[in-house]
Amino acid sequence: MGILIRNATAGDEARFRELWASYLDFYQVTVSDEISASTFSKALSPDSSIFMRVAEVDGRVEGFALCLTHEGTWILGKDLYLEDLFVDASQRGKGVGRALLQDLVDLSKANGWSRLYWHTAETNATARKLYDSFVQSDGHLRYRITIG
Ligand SMILES: CC(C)(COP(=O)(O)OP(=O)(O)OC[C@H]1O[C@@H](n2cnc3c(N)ncnc32)[C@H](O)[C@@H]1OP(=O)(O)O)[C@@H](O)C(=O)NCCC(=O)NCCS
Repeated sequence: MGILIRNATAGDEARFRELWASYLDFYQVTVSDEISASTFSKALSPDSSIFMRVAEVDGRVEGFALCLTHEGTWILGKDLYLEDLFVDASQRGKGVGRALLQDLVDLSKANGWSRLYWHTAETNATARKLYDSFVQSDGHLRYRITIG
């Protein structure tokens, strides 16, 4: 099985939308079509700090990592935040998620970004098994107030 990690392109939109819908289902959330379209558009725009890497398995996109870079107060360079990671259910357990994460580590090194970080649900044992093989959780909890 060949796994190729690459930047998303405009031609990926239809497949991304399928995977994105499954990802939202996984989280049991609904996001408006306007937001989904905007997210895809930002991920491709050089003017946005959001970007998307996709994983092709034997020529078909089966997973994605949506990320953004931002400045930080404890660093000179940039942080890379991984906001969304998803692999199609039919392709899990084959190393696709690991390849997407490793790609972000490699990209961070290549771009001189200082840190790569992400959040996950405490109960997401499958994802945590993957994450724990990269690094241990730093023990921080997230607090979030939703405004409007
Ligand atoms: C988390 C997720 C991205 C992992 O993708 P994946 O392609 O299946 O992961 P990999 O095949 O690279 O597996 C990596 C490791 O995860 C663990 N893992 C993967 N599938 C597992 C399963 N079904 N049960 C237990 N552990 C599993 C294993 O430790 C595995 O490492 P190993 O194969 O060296 O033992 C995928 O399960 C997914 O999309 N889940 C739903 C969305 C989600 O939870 N996203 C993350 C939100 S923070």
